[in-house]
Amino acid sequence: EKGNYRHFMQKEIFEQPTVVAQTLRSYVRQVDQSVALPQIDYDLSKINRITIVACGTSYYAGMVAKYWLEQFARLPVDIDVASEFRYRDPVLEPGGLALFISQSGETADTLAALRHCKAAGQTIAVVVNVPTSTMAREADLLLPTHAGPEIGVASTKAFTCQLAVLAALAAHLAVLRGRMDRAEETEVVRHLIQTPACLNAALAHDEEIAAMAHLIAPARDVLYLGRGPDYPLALEGALKLKEISYIHAEGYASGEMKHGPIALIDEAVPVIVLAPSGPLFEKTVSNMQEVRARGGKIVLISDAEGLAEAGEGCIATIEMPKVHPLIAPLVYAVPVQLLAYHVACVKGTDVDQPRNLAKSVTVE
Ligand code: M6R
Repeated sequence: EKGNYRHFMQKEIFEQPTVVAQTLRSYVRQVDQSVALPQIDYDLSKINRITIVACGTSYYAGMVAKYWLEQFARLPVDIDVASEFRYRDPVLEPGGLALFISQSGETADTLAALRHCKAAGQTIAVVVNVPTSTMAREADLLLPTHAGPEIGVASTKAFTCQLAVLAALAAHLAVLRGRMDRAEETEVVRHLIQTPACLNAALAHDEEIAAMAHLIAPARDVLYLGRGPDYPLALEGALKLKEISYIHAEGYASGEMKHGPIALIDEAVPVIVLAPSGPLFEKTVSNMQEVRARGGKIVLISDAEGLAEAGEGCIATIEMPKVHPLIAPLVYAVPVQLLAYHVACVKGTDVDQPRNLAKSVTVE
């Protein structure tokens, strides 16, 4: 049921603080402020490499996880979209963990990749939202998200719940491998626990974003830029906009813009910049100047500090709470989801059932 919401997608966007909290309850132990996986009978301490495979939005969650797993657990991570993965004959050595991410747990390409990895002797872990799904049944290690049923074809709450699980997994592996001490673990837990409140703060910008949707709706092309773990968010923002508003959108790593896409920039191409303040912020500011010098119109999504430094001259800004870099991808997912949603509403498209798309892609 949609309740007071116009669309399932809108309802699911607003459910995120609740379902992320619900998901985290299985991964964070309040008593001792530690991270723990729900399936405790599995020893991951001998894992020497991780291969992540998924499709669409779940793949972008995997891209974020690669940054976390490398940074915190110092584990090498290989990642691919499922439709490419098994056909390139990937090198899968003993001791590898293959991690599959899927809302439905039924996506044909991802399932085929899972079976390929199983046959190659990899340990199989899955992050799935449907506990009775095929992937859940075939996994060695089941890491469920507790997002509840996701009806909108455009994935929203499943994505942030996947990120919550993956953040906990990265921290857990970091602890197991002696890369994270108790103090750091407690710190991570503290930030994870704050996530639902930060998601609420991001959701509070709904009306503002609805108003700026009119600036984006007339565009033919939109560019999304981000760096580090927020780069996959640029890809996700572009995917959401494409799927439900049918506007052509592309996500790029901010620093990659001058290697090509900058040729597209003119007054008609809005550029959405996702940039929490931090050590790399200055670099993004120069990328913004490159856009502005070519007449490009920027929407900057940042925190108060970032907006104070670089908000001037943007056609619009959206202020996010100041958050720890670990949880920034979860929080910054909200404004890109809301922007896509409101642009689609302005355009009058079928938000929950966009043309040509199915909720679960069970054919290759
Ligand atoms: O059920 P899955 O997570 O395996 O689905 C993967 C993709 O088909 C899915 O994320 C798709 O890209 C969504 N429509 C994105 O909004």
